[in-house]
Amino acid sequence: MENYTAATNRYESMPYRRCGKSGILLPSLSLGLWHNFGHVDNFNTSKQIVHTAFDKGITHFDLANNYGPPPGSAEENFGKILKQSFASYRDELIISTKAGWGMWPGPYGDLGSKKYLVASLDQSLQRMGLDYVDIFYHHRPDPYTPLEETMSALDLIVRQGKALYVGISSYNTEDTLRASKVLKELGTPCLIHQPRYSMLDRWVENGLLDVIEDEGIGSIAFSPLEQGILTNKYLKGIPENSRAAKSTGFLQKEQVTKEVIQKAQQLNGIAQKRGQSLAQMAISWLLKDHRITSVLVGVSSEKQLLDNLGALTNLEFSVSELQEIETILK
Ligand SMILES: NC(=O)c1ccc[n+]([C@@H]2O[C@H](COP(=O)([O-])OP(=O)(O)OC[C@H]3O[C@@H](n4cnc5c(N)ncnc54)[C@H](OP(=O)(O)O)[C@@H]3O)[C@@H](O)[C@H]2O)c1
Repeated sequence: MENYTAATNRYESMPYRRCGKSGILLPSLSLGLWHNFGHVDNFNTSKQIVHTAFDKGITHFDLANNYGPPPGSAEENFGKILKQSFASYRDELIISTKAGWGMWPGPYGDLGSKKYLVASLDQSLQRMGLDYVDIFYHHRPDPYTPLEETMSALDLIVRQGKALYVGISSYNTEDTLRASKVLKELGTPCLIHQPRYSMLDRWVENGLLDVIEDEGIGSIAFSPLEQGILTNKYLKGIPENSRAAKSTGFLQKEQVTKEVIQKAQQLNGIAQKRGQSLAQMAISWLLKDHRITSVLVGVSSEKQLLDNLGALTNLEFSVSELQEIETILK
């Protein structure tokens, strides 16, 4: 694996979508490194996943300062992969990172101050061995810091050449609109919003998607498979080798309720009739909305990634399929 050469046909099957009103196209499916890329994980598996993703046209890799565990180790491992395999492909990649959750002790390692964001990005760049990231996000809203300060930190970071574009994550509709206005005034428009969005969590349909479209912002849906619940993984209980079973995973066993599994089983019935896996249908269902630029999946194996990529060959839903899905989701 040391001498990685990317597949020559890597741009032949991936559909790319324009990110809002920007010059950037993102792959319909992007890869997130929240889980499965830390020092607790198998490095060769992580590397294989990144190689396969790029070979299939996934040009966008999403990180954050705190991904691991331990925090920071996903960036370190990704930096190692970049150095070993991707040195000559840097200009074909969109690499994002974020700051906003607690990262180091004391008052300057959390939330949304200029002090935290600027220092955190410097640390991220060092861990990944990069001069700049393509997208830098404020990871979550900060109720204490004035929005103007956080947005001016994003603007500063772009002017310093440490990020090309900026984004926000998990901001509600009202704060998204405010943030977008401030960023436009500063001359660094918001490229992208990263909200949680899946068949089981549809808060973005309540205004956010309208605002991002009006503002010319793209969107990338995180946890589209509800951390694995919207796959075949939990249909028959909680397997040992799963995020819910692992002590380092963010999916708690208690979240895998009977009710939710029943829904997944019913949805799986529709997926089967469509000739898709449940994971594939969950991804296709998000991509049916043109306001979704990309769907950001996590995977613990190459096999899961290939399964998820299969979604892209069947993005159409009939009216009756959509109605059936609505009935289950209600
Ligand atoms: N902005 C934010 O605040 C925020 C928050 C969370 C996530 N994110 C981003 O979004 C990315 C994705 O989030 P996520 O990892 O929660 O996404 P997800 O795609 O909903 O869940 C990923 C998990 O689902 C399982 N899975 C995936 N594909 C599968 C398949 N085809 N068949 C069976 N199981 C499958 C795997 O679980 P197992 O590990 O059990 O195999 C995998 O680890 C993150 O990596 C991160 O980049 C951002």
